[in-house]
Amino acid sequence: MCGIVGYVGPRESEAILLSGLARLEYRGYDSAGIAVIDADGDLGLRKRAGKLSVLREDLDAHPLPAGTTGIGHTRWATHGGPTDVNAHPHLADHEQLAVIHNGIIENYAQIKDELVSEGYSFLSETDTEVAAVLLGREFRAHGEDLVAAFRATVKRLDGAFTLLALHREQPHLVVGARRNSPLVIGLGEGENFLGSDVAAFVEYTRNALAIGQDQIVAITPEAVTVTDFDGNPVEVEPFEVTWDAAAAEKGGWSSFMAKEVSEEPEAVGNTIRGRVRDGVVSIPELDGLDDLFREINRIVIIAAGTAAYAGQVGKYALEEWTRIPVDVELAHEFRYRNPILDERTLVVSISQSGETMDTLMAVKYAVERGARTLSICNTQGATIPRESDAIVYTHAGPEVAVASTKAFVAQITAIYLLALHVAAVRGALTATEVAQHVLELEAVPEKIQQILDREQEHIEQFAHWMADTRSVLFLGRHVGFPIALEGALKLKEISYIHAEGFAAGELKHGPIALIEPGQPVFVIVPSPRESPVLHSKVVSNIREVHARGARVVAIAEEGDAAVLPISDEVLRIPLAGPLFEPLLAVVPLHIFAMALATAKGLDVDQPRNLAKSVTVE
Ligand code: G6P
Repeated sequence: MCGIVGYVGPRESEAILLSGLARLEYRGYDSAGIAVIDADGDLGLRKRAGKLSVLREDLDAHPLPAGTTGIGHTRWATHGGPTDVNAHPHLADHEQLAVIHNGIIENYAQIKDELVSEGYSFLSETDTEVAAVLLGREFRAHGEDLVAAFRATVKRLDGAFTLLALHREQPHLVVGARRNSPLVIGLGEGENFLGSDVAAFVEYTRNALAIGQDQIVAITPEAVTVTDFDGNPVEVEPFEVTWDAAAAEKGGWSSFMAKEVSEEPEAVGNTIRGRVRDGVVSIPELDGLDDLFREINRIVIIAAGTAAYAGQVGKYALEEWTRIPVDVELAHEFRYRNPILDERTLVVSISQSGETMDTLMAVKYAVERGARTLSICNTQGATIPRESDAIVYTHAGPEVAVASTKAFVAQITAIYLLALHVAAVRGALTATEVAQHVLELEAVPEKIQQILDREQEHIEQFAHWMADTRSVLFLGRHVGFPIALEGALKLKEISYIHAEGFAAGELKHGPIALIEPGQPVFVIVPSPRESPVLHSKVVSNIREVHARGARVVAIAEEGDAAVLPISDEVLRIPLAGPLFEPLLAVVPLHIFAMALATAKGLDVDQPRNLAKSVTVE
């Protein structure tokens, strides 16, 4: 939610801001705007409800005077509807100061009352304008020093925020602050950048700095200064962005989602790379943590959305291989129910963005309660890893489509690597067993590629005739259960079709009442060879729905003949051990959701109402 870009340097900032905002579009937004200080030192502002294209058209029709220093914003409405007036930037101090914001300022009403009583007035319904007006007042109270005024302002604010500001009286300066919302710095030559994430500036520089919570950054063309909210200098962590701008572009694909699904093999392969050697898992980021892994007696996985389903799959492998009990919790439920945590609990957070507010808050809560924390994350410089004791990055590359796909398989891969590493450290698996599982994991990218090569067209065909379907059910058992949930979530998210995932064993406890002739039911079928007992139970479930007229789509292992007489469509996945099947079975479901949404003529990358990075609670 909300994308933020800031620029100071010699170049015209408008193009830089717009391209940065375009790269942040994936976060989800409903209005956009920029503010630029022009060559005469005047402040130009343009903001429009709607997509970035609306803003671009407006700027083309009525250009702003060119300027170098600027800030840009895409807004996902929280306080006040998505209108031109509520869009950011917001002006204050007699239209000399512009502010953009991501997050929610919880005490804005109280500050607004105070400012109104002093005679200040407001144009919008936003909490952001309150911060802007307060900053304007503080600018005058602090000797026209934007950084000092910023310090005074942010200290008054409660809640979560990233704020950026510029003032025409200090034309080569952009000031930013963060508390529980994302902000990273891009370092250029004679120019510097700020962004919600590195995508905002990766086109111009791959040298970045991650800043911590409750810190303020001031960028000029030549300098970057980071302090805490009291003005004390703080250490910042430099990092190099590991992907280039081309990785975040569509590159000839019809959608980012299509590109990202096609990248699922690499997402798994790159997450494994450098972490296994000769059948041994060695994750450099986890060096020195063996004692921790020996001491823990419980693992709690916290996440939201697709990442939580990856966590559910991970639970099966973690418990099977490490014999440590694992709970999986939705991050937003976790911290409001007084969970039992201590220093022997390892809380593993999973987040593609590393910015999901609920997950971040759950991690902080776990830290406060004395638990140890490890994060699995796909985004360098993100907040959640910084708040955790340890981090295992997934190397899925930038994921732009709102609905998560390649990050999901990369998350499962990372948990499996973690599970194998912990199992080896604790002696829960022998070296030979670890080596066997490593071999299986290493074979996954090739197997996913086979599914993409063989099944894509078939799935697209039957998705086409299902375009008018009103409801789809998904059934799975064991690791197939979270995959059923993921299949249903993906369909809801991008095709707006009612979809539910059920544990196949629950069928007779309710869901079977939904079956009527023609009802599509996807069933994830376990391997007859690897899991004969589960296989026969799921085949019975298929019989039960088939007998009642359901239209069955079975996702079954190559050679599984039992499903043929009772299924309308069979999607084949290569042979794999039981715990590796989910990494394969999910692929046809991702393709299906995308194909159905495409058949309905929908935008698969930016589904309605959703944001990729949910940075408010
Ligand atoms: C949003 C996205 C989902 C994602 C979830 C968790 O709801 O639309 O695709 O799974 O957030 O995001 P995270 O970045 O924490 O993995």
